[in-house]
Amino acid sequence: MNEHWWRSAVIYQIYVRSFADSDGDGVGDLPGIRSRLPHVKELGVDGIWLTPFYPSPGADHGYDVSDYVDVDPQFGTLDDFDALVADAHRLGLRVIVDIVPNHTSNEHQWFRNAVSDPQHPDRARYIFRPGRDGEPPNVWTSAFGGPAWTLDDASGEYYLHLFTPEQPDLDWHNGRVREDFEEILRFWLDRGVDGFRIDVGQALYKAPDLHDVHQPEPRPAFADWHTGINQAEVHGLYRSWRRLADSYPDERMYVGEVVLENQVELAKYVRPDELQLTFNFTFLYEDWNAKALRARIERTLEAFGAVGATASWVLENHDVTRLPTRYGGGEEGRRRARAATLLLLGLPGAAFLYQGQELGLEEVELPDELRQDPVFFRTNGARKGRDGCRVPIPWSGGPPGFGFTAGSPWLPIPADWTALSAEAQEGSPQSSLALHRAALELRRRIDALRTGSFAWRESPSGTLLFERASGNETIVCVVNLNAEHLQLPDGELLLASEPAPGNLLPPSSAAWTRV
Ligand code: GLC
Repeated sequence: MNEHWWRSAVIYQIYVRSFADSDGDGVGDLPGIRSRLPHVKELGVDGIWLTPFYPSPGADHGYDVSDYVDVDPQFGTLDDFDALVADAHRLGLRVIVDIVPNHTSNEHQWFRNAVSDPQHPDRARYIFRPGRDGEPPNVWTSAFGGPAWTLDDASGEYYLHLFTPEQPDLDWHNGRVREDFEEILRFWLDRGVDGFRIDVGQALYKAPDLHDVHQPEPRPAFADWHTGINQAEVHGLYRSWRRLADSYPDERMYVGEVVLENQVELAKYVRPDELQLTFNFTFLYEDWNAKALRARIERTLEAFGAVGATASWVLENHDVTRLPTRYGGGEEGRRRARAATLLLLGLPGAAFLYQGQELGLEEVELPDELRQDPVFFRTNGARKGRDGCRVPIPWSGGPPGFGFTAGSPWLPIPADWTALSAEAQEGSPQSSLALHRAALELRRRIDALRTGSFAWRESPSGTLLFERASGNETIVCVVNLNAEHLQLPDGELLLASEPAPGNLLPPSSAAWTRV
């Protein structure tokens, strides 16, 4: 079938610091990733997304970039990057890199110039404004706590940062910024990347009047409330980026991190001449509830369908609590997470998996003194932050290194993860790893699952039932969230997240049946 590859791709997110360490410093790196590519290949995904590996002082672990066209020595070299891309391509895996256009590091040369001399042309790349009655220029808050403005003592002006003060926002109304990023994109496209994940994709342009926007309390997970961002101009920018990608062979693509709950607004980013994909975070903040999940799925399919775009589905990433923990933790949380895997991979569109999701890892409760996320520090501990989902991967063996590092991992790996390591799960048909591999293998092999049409089927309350069909093949995806038991449809049971004796699917489980 001649489908655009990205329409139904499954992309595996690699959080570079935490995936595999080749040199024993306790921090993951590019050669480490190379050495673990066979795991990714065997898992059966279509490609990888690498979180930022560019030179960075690390105020937000790489999302504060001080040079967009190099590799941080901690992670390797440009040669290591090229070798990684070559290996991935040899294995048939696409490579997506993370681009961070909303802000730079405060150590980027542009920002250094901007603060060292207010007359320097680089100053106009950022958003400096005089204060208002001795206060910041407006009431905007940082996503990580505190005001979104920091005083530049030397000039007496404030600069805007939607995240930490070490991440000054760029001014996208400045033509130089636009030109710079075109060059940056070209640099990586020329090196053979298959696409980009666009960080904070909805926020690049700010309303020119920088009007006051009061943040609701508590701060919502989605950014819809913020009328100072999600400006119309961003769509023109993405159209130009799309033309750039389309000028390269082999369908290079973009996936936007667009944190909007309103699916109609979200789908604007994936109109035919804009980005190919946007993350759809609709499942991240939804409970294990059939009615709510169904409503979310319907809204997504309708909004994305209306613009001719493919949907995408996400259950985990490096910014949210691990799924089994969100679903209540313990055995019940793990069961639900396994079931959700078959939901995720059974839905039409692209899907994203976060490293360790295939192992069923839970969120790690870290002692405060080990926490590193600026979210923790900027909220004075009120928000614990995201370190608990960023603990390195247990590959094999036990503490402290678990095959992740020969040294001591940058965050400790829980001693009781021995049974969860990739090695320990290998060969166990009941494991989370085996379930993921089997599901991905079926999805690759069966057109109906990958690219088939979608339709709901009637099902009792507390359950979800839908079919995917292509040609004369129909696969039914059954999710029993919390009904007593659910009768599986007649047919060939392809895969189930739990045993279903007597063809009765127990609660907190899911199955795929060929009918
Ligand atoms: C995105 C990233 C997150 C980062 C933030 C600022 O939301 O996923 O990890 O902290 O942008 O760059």
